[in-house]
Amino acid sequence: AKNVGILAMDIYFPPTCIQQEALEAHDGASKGKYTIGLGQDCMAFCSEVEDVISMSLTAVTSLLEKYGIDPKQIGRMEVGSETVIDKSKSIKTFLMQIFEECGNTDIEGVDSTNACYGGTAALFNCVNWVESNSWDGRYGLVVCTDSAVYAEGPARPTGGAAAIAMLIGPDAPIAFESKFRASHMSHAYDFYKPNLASEYPVVDGKLSQTCYLMALDSCYKRFCNKFEKLEGKQFCMSDADYFVFHSPYNKLVQKSFARLAFNDFLRNASSIDEVAKEKLAPFSTLTGDESYQSRDLEKASQQVAKPLYDAKVQPTTLIPKQVGNMYTASLYAAFASLIHNKHSTLAGNRVMMFSYGSGLTATMFSLHFSAGQHPFSLSNIASVMNVGGKLKSRHEFPPEKFVETMKLMEHRYGAADFVTSKDTSLLPPGTYYLTEVDSKYRRFYSKK
Ligand code: ACO
Repeated sequence: AKNVGILAMDIYFPPTCIQQEALEAHDGASKGKYTIGLGQDCMAFCSEVEDVISMSLTAVTSLLEKYGIDPKQIGRMEVGSETVIDKSKSIKTFLMQIFEECGNTDIEGVDSTNACYGGTAALFNCVNWVESNSWDGRYGLVVCTDSAVYAEGPARPTGGAAAIAMLIGPDAPIAFESKFRASHMSHAYDFYKPNLASEYPVVDGKLSQTCYLMALDSCYKRFCNKFEKLEGKQFCMSDADYFVFHSPYNKLVQKSFARLAFNDFLRNASSIDEVAKEKLAPFSTLTGDESYQSRDLEKASQQVAKPLYDAKVQPTTLIPKQVGNMYTASLYAAFASLIHNKHSTLAGNRVMMFSYGSGLTATMFSLHFSAGQHPFSLSNIASVMNVGGKLKSRHEFPPEKFVETMKLMEHRYGAADFVTSKDTSLLPPGTYYLTEVDSKYRRFYSKK
């Protein structure tokens, strides 16, 4: 199979959201902390009728319907999620309901879990399958689904929720350049979920930022090395048209891109002009550790990178700024933002992707666009996703109601024997919702 990659995509995020400005005021944070400090505009969250299973059911059925895919044509389905509802039964098995109905139970794949990285693991599994000897000619389907919620405190504004479905196959308009991909994986306690009775993570915010940037540096260096070895020329930021990052909050994305500029400076790459060189020169002798702590370097490199950020990163930031951290779906929601904003000019472009999952696992990889053919064309993907329409038709909750919902969800997490309100008034038609968890913890869903 040639040009294996993403043929089609759809995204779902809850229509319930809260403005960061309102949350800021409610939390007693200084004005601008969440909006400018973290760079976030709005945050989506699941109400008591939604969860990672209902969101993924919605995303998968919508993708199959809108691209006219017969469920029998799916041969592998991989789910990435870090929102564990059951320690044994995979989310994938819930999604099998859609396929069993059509007589297709011959579908490989289960769930992948490691913080925000599971979606990338799922994607690689599907791409590798299509490229392998065990491929049977059918499509792969990747699902990323997460509800990111934090306990009250500084991390709470960095929540979010979404599910993304991606169809994988050959001759894709979004093709993998698999040879260059580079990973960095190690043992860290930056963000983890050791308390199985709670949905909330234990998080060392500062450490997680540093781990993220260290992993980014390491992946970028390795990616550049592999590129040089195979292509016989240096790789730098100018060789890619767009950079898409896992986006816990936008400020970290700004810092990440600036970090790549600093890397290019240290490598003496052509993307850095004389003016930029002068600005970064004072930092050329910092040790790695010092460079992560230096506020002056952060400022100088962000300044140097700003024009390139506006061109190569800004078009990827819409959904993450509006919806928040979607964990496994975050990187792919940023990617969906790029297709939404730029679908008509992407053909021939290269995009760099950086996936990070705490604990920690990270990979940098690149994709190559072509226009594609209906229904698998970039313009059709943009119109099916309807990002603008979905963002516009949301319902803003006041902070008090958001906090109330979080309390109810804490109470319901891991609980049995309850029915939900079944209130679907805010959900668009076609959305799945949770109706009941019975006394044996079995979960039941309906479709609006
Ligand atoms: N106006 C403008 N900016 C402000 C204001 C204000 N009034 N107040 C603060 N800021 C800025 C700060 O200067 C800082 O920006 P900087 O980093 O450029 O200096 C930013 O806002 C955040 O302020 P801090 O005081 O550093 O924030 P705090 O410690 O309260 O929490 C954090 C931030 C650590 C990101 C927290 O939200 C968190 O723990 N989130 C979850 C962890 C996370 O997302 N990690 C990322 C990788 S792992 C993952 O994906 C889960």
